[in-house]
Amino acid sequence: MNDSEQTATAAQLPAGMPPEVVTHALAHDVTLPHGAGTMVLITLDNGADHHRPNSFGQTGLTELDAAVAAALGRDDVAAVGVTGKPYSFCAGADVTAMPYLTDRDQALAIARLGHRVYSRISTADKPVFAFVNALALGGGLELALHCHYRTVATDAPAVGLPEVSLGLVPGWGGTYLLPNLIGVERALTVMLANPLQNNRLLKGPQVLELGIADAAFEPGDFLERSLEWAARVVSGAVTVERAPVDRGPVTWGGVVGGARALLAARTHGACVAGERLLDLVESARTADPVTAYAGEDDALADLLMSPQFRAGIYAFDLVQRRAKRPAGVPAADPRPVGKVGVVGGGLMGRQLALLFARRLEVPVTVVDVDEAKVAEALAGIEADVRRTVERKRMQPATAQRLAASISGTTQLTGLADADLVIEAVVERPEVKASVFADLERHVRPECLLVTNTSALSVTEMGASLEHPERVVGLHFFNPVAVLPLVEVVRTERTDEETLATAFAVAKALRKSAVLVHDAPGFVVNRILTRLMGAVLAPIDDGVDVSVADSALADLGLPMSPLELVELVGPGVALHVAETLHEHWPDRFGVSRLLSAMVEHGVGGVWEQRDRNDPRAALAPPRLREDVQPLLTEIARTASADAPSAADIRAQALDAVTDEIGRLLDERVVEDVRDIDLCLILGAGWPFWLGGITPYLDRSGTSERVRGHRFLPPGAASLPR
Ligand code: NAI
Repeated sequence: MNDSEQTATAAQLPAGMPPEVVTHALAHDVTLPHGAGTMVLITLDNGADHHRPNSFGQTGLTELDAAVAAALGRDDVAAVGVTGKPYSFCAGADVTAMPYLTDRDQALAIARLGHRVYSRISTADKPVFAFVNALALGGGLELALHCHYRTVATDAPAVGLPEVSLGLVPGWGGTYLLPNLIGVERALTVMLANPLQNNRLLKGPQVLELGIADAAFEPGDFLERSLEWAARVVSGAVTVERAPVDRGPVTWGGVVGGARALLAARTHGACVAGERLLDLVESARTADPVTAYAGEDDALADLLMSPQFRAGIYAFDLVQRRAKRPAGVPAADPRPVGKVGVVGGGLMGRQLALLFARRLEVPVTVVDVDEAKVAEALAGIEADVRRTVERKRMQPATAQRLAASISGTTQLTGLADADLVIEAVVERPEVKASVFADLERHVRPECLLVTNTSALSVTEMGASLEHPERVVGLHFFNPVAVLPLVEVVRTERTDEETLATAFAVAKALRKSAVLVHDAPGFVVNRILTRLMGAVLAPIDDGVDVSVADSALADLGLPMSPLELVELVGPGVALHVAETLHEHWPDRFGVSRLLSAMVEHGVGGVWEQRDRNDPRAALAPPRLREDVQPLLTEIARTASADAPSAADIRAQALDAVTDEIGRLLDERVVEDVRDIDLCLILGAGWPFWLGGITPYLDRSGTSERVRGHRFLPPGAASLPR
């Protein structure tokens, strides 16, 4: 391979593509210790601050290739090393530019260019080392995988191959190299399970544990220690031993087969990238690199042009940018929050108390109706903290601080010096209004009065207060520690300082805030309840429960409507449905099955099953024993013209489309992108749907129901 060959196959890229922020390959000579000779150390650096990690476009890749080729061509060089700038080894290909590609050949050329540059490294006749000093994602980690040896910094915060979550595969060698390095099971955890699980990434020590890196060093002298280790490898003083990989067809096939079954059970064909990944990993057992990489090129070229990837990039952009800079934050200065009160120490109140104490690092007082409830709430919080420490997700010192900062009382007088009080009492408007009225007598006039209501009118809760301008909603989602969204609910009377403080608090809590105007159910619950209604009504009318509940399975949502009812609790789901029914009886029904579940204390419809066991996940769900009598009780009569699963699916999507349109018409949110962001962050809806509106546009549903698309053509693919 020579340089002229390389530039000849660089892609002709379409006009209008944003200019590449070039990641330069800065090479300099280093004399290795222990007389091991000269190393050419290549530092990747795009010259931008740490908010913009290194990434590769064509120019950067070509520069890296030239630097590597020059180093390998020198007789006086014993080894080559690659490292990154502070905070960033490399985040891989600049995927945000990819949606600008207009045909498959351009996509194929980019895939091939990456392989050609990286293959020069893996086939080099001198040892090449990757010193993974920081973040290494996608093509960044694949670059390290092509090197012969790897070290990692113990504080590297984010290492992984998250491509599948975006609708791609790790197609610059990842699908071949990783399973052959660490075994197929571990590799699929990194490339499939983690991306599908809220895009979980690895930290430095896990990179070592999994066998991706050969050595790990502390950040303080990471490079010096890495060079010293590399010198020992070059001189032969250190021999790198790696755990053998079981390439037996039974093990390999079994693991891939199990992953296929799980993927099918969870996403029902919606995760096209996951399926392509499994095909590639399956053949990685026996393929030679050339064949394997050709397979990756094909997969990348197909996927880069796919609607799922385009929606994925739209979603990625929302989460990376819009979520971090929410629209509608007023210019007013937020008020400082030095003490917090939580009224209601139930399921939500406990989680909120912990979140506020942990992230704001301020004293938090929990108030409940009697001593027993207060004690129960504090014991619940303590148990939660203990579990988090046991799972090594919290330092014991932090646990001690939290224990000291969270207290409980039955008296609102305990909140006299609070700057913010959030109520999480039962979902009944008269109880909430009376809690706010009582609070107003005890707290200072500038103390924020915040509600976590799921669906009730925030305006009404503050209507008879002396200072309704300090009332605002912060609607968190259960489980609070997992779901990143908070809907910030503004009433007509909320003032700018209150709103600014609410946004500042959400940010300090590390939540993504979306501004919504006060309207029943806000955004997420309103859409989910409309969707659930479209599935529950046919069940009330006699349609088989599993037929209705699986009607939307091919969208690959994180759970079925009835699984969602179980997660939020039938009581909460019923409350929300009743509130919405009161406002809009034509669109929101109250399911007889749901009412019967609440009346009889039945928490869910399906028998529990292990979602990680492929056989259990694929088996048809079984009704719980206590559900059959409820179905009899609600007197379902199966009619001859009962809707099919396809009818239910179409009706549900039409209903969601209609409801989103109304949310926009009523200006509950100002921009359709906030609806997608809410569904992604508050309900875990997948990137491959882009939230939902890119899918509704693509499937023609919005055109049919609303007469036009939600997003302008191409908007779902072009980052803004
Ligand atoms: P819960 O029933 O678990 O807890 C309510 C707590 O409030 C109980 O401990 C009760 O003793 C206490 N309480 C009742 N009246 C009180 C009063 N006057 N003063 C002080 N404490 C009082 O309810 P949960 O599920 O925690 O819900 C609380 C609020 O959060 C509701 O508005 C609900 O709609 C909302 N929410 C619930 C979500 C969920 O998934 N459960 C998700 C998001 C919001």
